[in-house]
Formats: sequence, structure tokens, C-alpha cells
Amino acid sequence: HSHHSHFEAHELMKTANELVEIKGRGIYASDEAPEMMDELLRNAQKVSLTEEEKRKKRKIWKETAFSSLNSEYISGAILHWESLIDFQLAPLLSDKGIIPGIRANGELVPIPRSTEEFIVQGLDNLLPQLQAARSAGARFSKWRVPVGCTSTNIPVPLPTLLGLETSAETLAQFAAISQQAGLVPIVEPDVDFSRDADLARSTEVHERVIDLIYIRMKAHGVLIEGTLIKPSFPQPGLQHPSRAEVAPEEIAMATATIISRSVPTSVQGVLFLSGGLPSQTATNFLASLNALVLASPSPSAFSRLPRLTFSFGRGIQNEAMELWKAGDENAAKESFEKWSRSCWHASKGVVL
Ligand code: 13P
Repeated sequence: HSHHSHFEAHELMKTANELVEIKGRGIYASDEAPEMMDELLRNAQKVSLTEEEKRKKRKIWKETAFSSLNSEYISGAILHWESLIDFQLAPLLSDKGIIPGIRANGELVPIPRSTEEFIVQGLDNLLPQLQAARSAGARFSKWRVPVGCTSTNIPVPLPTLLGLETSAETLAQFAAISQQAGLVPIVEPDVDFSRDADLARSTEVHERVIDLIYIRMKAHGVLIEGTLIKPSFPQPGLQHPSRAEVAPEEIAMATATIISRSVPTSVQGVLFLSGGLPSQTATNFLASLNALVLASPSPSAFSRLPRLTFSFGRGIQNEAMELWKAGDENAAKESFEKWSRSCWHASKGVVL
């Protein structure tokens, strides 16, 4: 490992392995920015709160969420800086065997030459920030890039080559810096499904962006064995007529094909995002994928895939958050248990 000492390489591979090693376990993504958190936590009465009251509410929500997690189902949790540094919540997780991680990406700005695509900010000053995150208990980091996906040619289909190259290069720079700070990077290409692409187009875009990410990571000397990837599920866009009739089995076949073609076998795990899909839908996609892989004969392309599990945010917490806002903390805690268990089943190929 030319860019890493033997010890550093071993630590990175060990953490990556711990996040996905036990079949069924996955990550809870709880890394919304504070302003987004305030929006999500606003209750129906829309009472206006002071900044201090909002901060306190965010802290109590995070404490409730993290203390609800069961390490039988959850291997890691992704935190925003506020939770990790200001609220110092990492010990709440690590004390029960859940590995804390940090959301590393900054804000989005449009690419000047392609204004429907984005540059993700945050590379400047990233190394000291990730070193501070490590001191506060983080062992991995995550960086999300949104990837446009359309079929229409007006003015050009998305993503553009410029958009793809920008995304892959940014993720690779992030991954290299994250490993320099001793944190396992999770690269997150989040392919948009709000537009008019069909499943074939979404699959093609996923494959292209994932191919490019590994090419750029290798160019930056990233230790691929010490990384994980968090992709979206390929799927027809909300504006494509086939959206209504697509079956989880078709999504599963497309997803397994992408992973088998584009994710190197040296990668230990793939952790899918839920992307705002209803929790049951996201869970069904994951369950069908694992059921397909389990049923595939050995040896075959799908019998050699890395661990396929979840890194869900909304897919795990949506129902719990509604219950918590309605004042029922116990029901919220039960809901965390229920949905994490469903995800755990899904990642073992069990459709509930
Ligand atoms: P969702 O599962 O809600 O898409 O969140 C995952 C995530 O971390 C988005 O960056």
C-alpha cells in the first residue's frame, strides 16, 4: 500500500470490515444539517422557537434517536458536525458498539457551465476538520454528490460528462483526504430519480458514475479496500410512465448488475441510501436484491458480490420522527427498533 503505512492500512480495512462484516447490520444516516433538522422537527402547530430552543430540540431528538439504536441491527451511525463536536454524542454510540461517522461534504453550488449540476464544497480545510472528527470519536466519513439523471435532450441529457467528471474527482479527493485523517471514506453517488429516465437509463448512469469514481480514486492512491460505497438504487424516474409498474425484482436485477460490473471485488460493502422512498419500498428493494443474490448459483457473477446492506436515513427514522413530534417517545423508540429490524431482515434477503 504505497500511500499508507501497514498500520494505517490495517486500521482502515478493519473499520470498513466492522461496518459490514456481520450479515444484516447496516448504518443509520442521521446527518441532516441543523437548518434541515429544524424543518423536519417543526410540529403541525408551527410554533416559532428561539435559536436556543431549536438547538435544544435538535439535541434531544439526536439523543432519543441514538439511544434507541440496537447494535444487533446497526453497525454505524453518520453524524453531522453539530452532533459530533458540539453535542459530543459519539460516546452514546460507541459505548454500545455502534461506530460513529461524520458527514464530511459541504454545501452545493451549481457548476457554472451546467447549472442543473453541482459542485460539492468542503475540500478546503477538510484534513484538519476530519482530524478533529477523529479525535471526537468518528471512525468513518461520508460525502454525498447528487448526480442528475434524465432522458430528455433539452438542452442536454443529464448527467453531462463535465458533471460526472466533477463528481468523481471530488469524491476521490475526499476519499484520499479522509484516509489521510484515518477515517474510512464512504463515497455516496446519489442518482436523481425525480425526472424522466427509465430503468435502463438510470442503470446506465449508475454504472458510468461508479466506474469513474473508482478510476479517480485509484488515480489519487486511495486504498480501495479501506473504502465503502453508498449508492442509490437504479429506478425509473417519477416522471417516467414505467414507474408505476416497476417490480422490486427488476430493481434488484439492475442493481446487482451494476454492482457486479462496477464495484471492485476489493470493496467490502455497498450500503444503499433510501433517498426519500417510503420506508417499505426502500426495504423491499434491499430485500429483493439480497434474495436475488442468495438464490444465484455459485460460481456466478452475483455469488461474488460484496455485502449489500443499508445506510438509510429517512427509511429508518421517518415514522419515529412523526411519533416523537406527537409527543410519544416510547412509540418513537419502538419504531426505530421496528424499522432497523426490517432493514436487517432485508439485508439478509428476507422480504417481510
Ligand atoms: P436517506 O436514506 O434518507 O436518503 O439518507 C441517506 C443519506 O445519508 C443522504 O445523504
